[in-house]
Amino acid sequence: MTTPAIPLHDLHPAPDDFLGEVLAGLQAQPKTLPCKYFYDARGSEIFDRICELEEYYPTRTEVGILERYGDEIADRLGADCALIEFGSGSSLKTRLLLLALERPAAYLPIDISRDHLMSAAEHIAKRFPGLVVRPICADFAGTLSLPELPDTVRSKVVFFPGSTIGNFAPEPRLALLRRIAAVCAPKGGSLLIGIDLQKDVATLERAYNDARGVTRDFNLNLLERIKRELNADIDVSAFEHRALYSAREERIEMHLVSRLAQRIQLADASIDFRAGESVRTECSYKFAIPGFADLAARAGFELESVWSDELDHFAVLLLRTG
Ligand SMILES: C[S@@+](CC[C@H](N)C(=O)[O-])C[C@H]1O[C@@H](n2cnc3c(N)ncnc32)[C@H](O)[C@@H]1O
Repeated sequence: MTTPAIPLHDLHPAPDDFLGEVLAGLQAQPKTLPCKYFYDARGSEIFDRICELEEYYPTRTEVGILERYGDEIADRLGADCALIEFGSGSSLKTRLLLLALERPAAYLPIDISRDHLMSAAEHIAKRFPGLVVRPICADFAGTLSLPELPDTVRSKVVFFPGSTIGNFAPEPRLALLRRIAAVCAPKGGSLLIGIDLQKDVATLERAYNDARGVTRDFNLNLLERIKRELNADIDVSAFEHRALYSAREERIEMHLVSRLAQRIQLADASIDFRAGESVRTECSYKFAIPGFADLAARAGFELESVWSDELDHFAVLLLRTG
């Protein structure tokens, strides 16, 4: 039996902005690039390999929390909910939640990486026949509209795993939490969110500097993408991956560091690099639960429950907005 095609709710993120944002980032001082552009089809595929690395503790730790406390979490979320996932990727953690939930009515994964999103949505639809699956291709930090929800939906649950919220600096983080609260409106809803906790620097830096160089490939793929999609003249081998923890900012920073003085060409612009000059490509903030709860409160969320692992490396928080 063939599965009916799943309708894509396409909000057409990025392509028009890609050149403009890359140029603005590379012409700024210090140079930066938005981390959302990591995720083309190849970037999403490399990220899945990162999740399987021994060094990358966040995925297996969050999966462990969802496996251990799934029933308790599902009890709190209640029956007949619509699960709206921000940055759904391969929807692997979602399967655990859908298995635990009582009669989930709809699943709306939101992701910027279109092909990966569709393939994950098709897998979910096959695995959970009867579940209404409505993928949304969008930049979740931009304007969001949701497709119509089935009448059977009794509540909205936003699922935001993977500590993707940690890619946002405090101000845009607050704006994103407010956006999530708006998605829960008008009746209010729940936010189930995974956050990576502060811990020793060695564990943190190891997670972003794996021995097999998968995270290096993920980082360099951003330059490959710029080269391919924007027709830029860049020698990718003239850059190297660097990831380090900033205790002052409480975040891991990923950089692409120029091995030599060089000039790259992008559209009509020439961009010069000094030897050793870096482009910051990602920040991954590490949290303390009270600080995160305070920020979420400013977006209208009240912290209800916290689940974490034995080492307190990662936490899954349930927040409500009324
Ligand atoms: C760190 S991965 C997490 C994936 C998955 N949720 C997990 O927990 O393993 C971030 C995901 O969010 C998506 N993403 C990143 N920035 C985005 C944005 N601004 N809008 C929509 N999706 C985004 C990426 O494509 C990727 O699938």
